[in-house]
Amino acid sequence: MLLTIYKDYDELSAHVASEIIALVNNKPEAVLCFASGDTPRLSCQLLAARAIKEKTDFSKCTFIGLDEWVGIPPENEGSCRFFFESLLLKPLNFASSQIHLFDALSTNPLQECRKMDELILAKGGIDLMIVGVGMNGHIGFNEPGVSFSNYSHVIDLDETTISVGQKYFKGPVVLMQGITLGLKHLVESKKVFLIANGSKKAEVIKKTIESEISNDFPATIIRNHPQGVVMVDEAAASLLSK
Ligand code: F6R
Repeated sequence: MLLTIYKDYDELSAHVASEIIALVNNKPEAVLCFASGDTPRLSCQLLAARAIKEKTDFSKCTFIGLDEWVGIPPENEGSCRFFFESLLLKPLNFASSQIHLFDALSTNPLQECRKMDELILAKGGIDLMIVGVGMNGHIGFNEPGVSFSNYSHVIDLDETTISVGQKYFKGPVVLMQGITLGLKHLVESKKVFLIANGSKKAEVIKKTIESEISNDFPATIIRNHPQGVVMVDEAAASLLSK
């Protein structure tokens, strides 16, 4: 695992966008998996703007959404789908055949999970995962206590995820479960960027890098990935032991 520290959120986000463009230029049929949320928001905006300007060709890429809030409809602005569609998929003209997002309203969520696992296998694995980290150390909705050997699954959300998650929605919502890729997908993906910014994430990043690798704090798994890169700004790195 590599740790890279950028001056601020702008620099971090610009770097993430550049890496994705370089990957797609080098491997047009890349399989990309993104988290939604506040952290990747600027990376997505910069990526879309640069890709449009530079005419980067995403037409052969596969896009996979890391996770979704179970029961939240796609038109809700707080859904992961809404985030991906508005910031990346529409601006970059992804065709629906290239897009693979969990259906949060599915009556058969287990089938949704199997479908996603099979798709990833059929595509030969994920080339790059861009993930954030929650205040409880979750990645996607891999909540504290999750098995490291899970592929896609439905999970009861942790209390922290339920309360922090309200920030994405216009009014209070009932959040109970998430549907998510598993940490086995993360370990098996060819490359992973775990990104975090701001002093609010400083303690989380300290635990990710310095605490014992354990499912009590799922983000620690990044340290088992030979091509895992933790990319943070100076504020998020501020509590790391020198
Ligand atoms: C969202 C996701 C979550 C977030 C995490 C950090 O798709 O997978 O695990 O990455 O909760 O969220 P932000 O970036 O809003 O701090």
